[in-house]
Amino acid sequence: MIAAPSLDAPARQASAQSPSAGSSTRQAAIVALRAALSQAIVGQDLLLDRMVIALLTGGHLLVEGVPGLAKTSAIKALAQAVHATFQRVQFTPDLLPGDLTGSDVYMPAEGKSRFVAGPLFHDIILADEINRTPAKVQSALLEAMQERQITVGGQTYMLPGMFFVMATQNPLEHSGTYPLPEAQLDRFLLHVVLDYPSAEQERMILDMDLAKAGDTLAGAASMPVVDAAAVLEARQDVRRVHVAETLRQAIVDLVRATRHPESRKASLKSMVGAGASPRAALALAHAAQALAYLRGRDYVIPDDLIALAPDVLRHRIVLDLEAELRGLTADALVQDLLHASVFF
Ligand SMILES: Nc1ncnc2c1ncn2[C@@H]1O[C@H](COP(=O)(O)OP(=O)(O)OP(=O)(O)O)[C@@H](O)[C@H]1O
Ligand SMILES: [Mg+2]
Repeated sequence: MIAAPSLDAPARQASAQSPSAGSSTRQAAIVALRAALSQAIVGQDLLLDRMVIALLTGGHLLVEGVPGLAKTSAIKALAQAVHATFQRVQFTPDLLPGDLTGSDVYMPAEGKSRFVAGPLFHDIILADEINRTPAKVQSALLEAMQERQITVGGQTYMLPGMFFVMATQNPLEHSGTYPLPEAQLDRFLLHVVLDYPSAEQERMILDMDLAKAGDTLAGAASMPVVDAAAVLEARQDVRRVHVAETLRQAIVDLVRATRHPESRKASLKSMVGAGASPRAALALAHAAQALAYLRGRDYVIPDDLIALAPDVLRHRIVLDLEAELRGLTADALVQDLLHASVFF
């Protein structure tokens, strides 16, 4: 395998957190990183938490929200705070897989073809409006997310170690869109649904904007808080966060219940066409480990699982037609299953 060709990666400057620092120092630095994001973005705690969780687990985020809810600002702030290379890709109907991955290009001066890396060869990718592009381009992205490598012309190129994709979808737009295939949704660690800020927060957003001199992001997030090497080491720390025996069993029981919800609540019989896969159990455990770490703990508590179960499960459940006709949503189903679980 071949290392990804280096693009215009900025020099990794020394930062507050050296890669050799101990795990507790590193955890404190990640907690500081999360706090720094809240300096740049008002509220949207759900999004900010989930972004850091995905970063800490090597997972990817699917974010659904109307325009103007700070999706771009938040991911840019994260990229700055971890000193990552960042690339936004606007997904359009005419995009081709090679526009993402890169392709072999003939170099007349060299008399041969050379691989020219596409925009996916960055640490953090914002895949905007992923449902505006046809299935083969979505597949190229989702395959890269899963494999963390790209194969072109029989040659395999590794993506950066941090490689983190945040894909967005606008819930209001359906015409001319290509819904992501159910099977591919499973590749997203979390599916986050954003809401409008509160009235107070909206006023703060306005005040913050008016107080800004230039167009740079305000606050500490404009400074690197941890470096990329520390993020990769923190991923190892997160994998060591303790998940107790009872919680492990509860995770498996919850995920299995999405396939047979009537085992928890009789009225949910024949509501689900397809439940969550075993990958969902791993996703819930890993995300809960990251949330625990972000909260300064080295062990998962039931509240971590309760907080994350909706984001882990909502995109992995396919409801039956009858359920849809009765107005049942995947979110309501997850809540029912949670309430019937040992977490409560
Ligand atoms: N919670 C917030 N905190 C700080 N700024 C915010 C917040 N919400 C919105 N903004 C400001 O509103 C503007 C729009 O934000 P941004 O471009 O990040 O939204 P978006 O969700 O990416 O929108 P789109 O879906 O159109 O791409 C920016 O100037 C941003 O700073
Ligand atoms: Mg945007």
